[in-house]
Amino acid sequence: MIYPIVVYGDPVLKRKAKEIETGTDLHDLINDMFETMDAAHGIGLAAPQIGKSIRLFVVDGTPMEDEDMIDFKKVFINPEIVEETGDKWAFEEGCLSIPNIREEIERPAKLRIKYYDENWEFHDEEYDGMKARIIQHEYDHIEGVLFTDYLTPFKKRMLKGKLQNITKGKMKVEYRVLLPK
Ligand code: NI
Repeated sequence: MIYPIVVYGDPVLKRKAKEIETGTDLHDLINDMFETMDAAHGIGLAAPQIGKSIRLFVVDGTPMEDEDMIDFKKVFINPEIVEETGDKWAFEEGCLSIPNIREEIERPAKLRIKYYDENWEFHDEEYDGMKARIIQHEYDHIEGVLFTDYLTPFKKRMLKGKLQNITKGKMKVEYRVLLPK
């Protein structure tokens, strides 16, 4: 099942998401999230983006056709970024919940993350480069943070009109969205 994607202005995107009870059967939801993400041509999708304020996100870097991304199709349940290290680097990020806006965001190069996968197996792993970037962006979603939160007040003012239009549904978007009530 393909969910509509919640867009900028919905309070669920600003809420810190809740821990999921260990062992909860999430297989159907996870399949739906991958389906929803694929349909929107995304490389990451967090549960709040389909209106569910729980600590779960999925990533799939394989469509990027980058050698580094070949095996980067993963599920992160109750993740915790325990360390971010390395020099900050800038990259132009986008977000399915903020269509047609891309901005350069600086993030630390490396991270260490603890999480459970779709089978409730525990992992403690390190990532860098684009994989770390995707994880950081999706992790922010379950913390109630959007990439626009990192912009300077000047940039925010510049984008204000565009963001308000997104909230009102005044944008071109090729996937189904759910506008804030
Ligand atoms: Ni996003």
